[in-house]
Amino acid sequence: MPKAKINGVELFWEEAGSGDDVLLMLHGFPLDHTMWLDQMAHFSKLGWRVTAPDQRGYGQSSHDPTEDNTMDLLAQDAAALLDYLGVKKAVVMGLSMGGYVTFAFYRQFPEKVRALILANTKAEPDAPVARENRYKLREVVRQQGSTAARDVMLPAMFSPELHQSGGTLLDNLEAIMVRTRPTAIISTLPGLAERRDVVPDLPGIGVPTLVIHGELDQLMPVENARRMAQANPQARFVGVPGAGHMSNLENSAFFNRAVEEFLAGLK
Ligand code: MLT
Repeated sequence: MPKAKINGVELFWEEAGSGDDVLLMLHGFPLDHTMWLDQMAHFSKLGWRVTAPDQRGYGQSSHDPTEDNTMDLLAQDAAALLDYLGVKKAVVMGLSMGGYVTFAFYRQFPEKVRALILANTKAEPDAPVARENRYKLREVVRQQGSTAARDVMLPAMFSPELHQSGGTLLDNLEAIMVRTRPTAIISTLPGLAERRDVVPDLPGIGVPTLVIHGELDQLMPVENARRMAQANPQARFVGVPGAGHMSNLENSAFFNRAVEEFLAGLK
């Protein structure tokens, strides 16, 4: 897996495929690029050059623990990575926090965006209670480590049925959360809490946009995503049946097909 000093940190990323059609994939919180392995294999076989970084602090990427991971900063890292790779324009796909970063990327670097894929994410900022809970969680993670974030996040990442039956998907996601370093979580929680309201930006997005969302998402209701797509005539909505928040994992076959169709329309 390649790494380089990018935007002041050691950034790791994984690449698959080659060519001028670039798909940049931004992971959710508190995860790393390995959540995209299935999509990397799938889309690289379809002629896409797929790049999935570990965002700063996550996976094998370093960060400065005294600095907050704002969504703008994470987007600047992603843009600097594209520059480093000599990529002028990419399709940017982000899931959940990756979606917040995708919005921040488009706002700061619209010229680098060919299309957007917003997976299980939302445009609204945190409500006051949610914001307060982020800061409370930050204190608990300081005391107890990453398992505290796992305890809060994991129970809502898949459909209720999958949580009941358990299995490899759940185990794998838990493993990523637990190995995420606490300082990354501590640095990111304020960035999540203070992220901007991008609802007013939605009508102005001027590139093809796919809003894709697990129909059983317990963290972000699917109706919200539907409304997000309705705010822009260039946006299309697809609901992923039988999937919760991690729709790319829980129903990867459907997710990949829907994204594939969208990507095919761009070529
Ligand atoms: C994520 O999956 O990235 C998080 O649920 C985002 C969030 O906590 O808002």
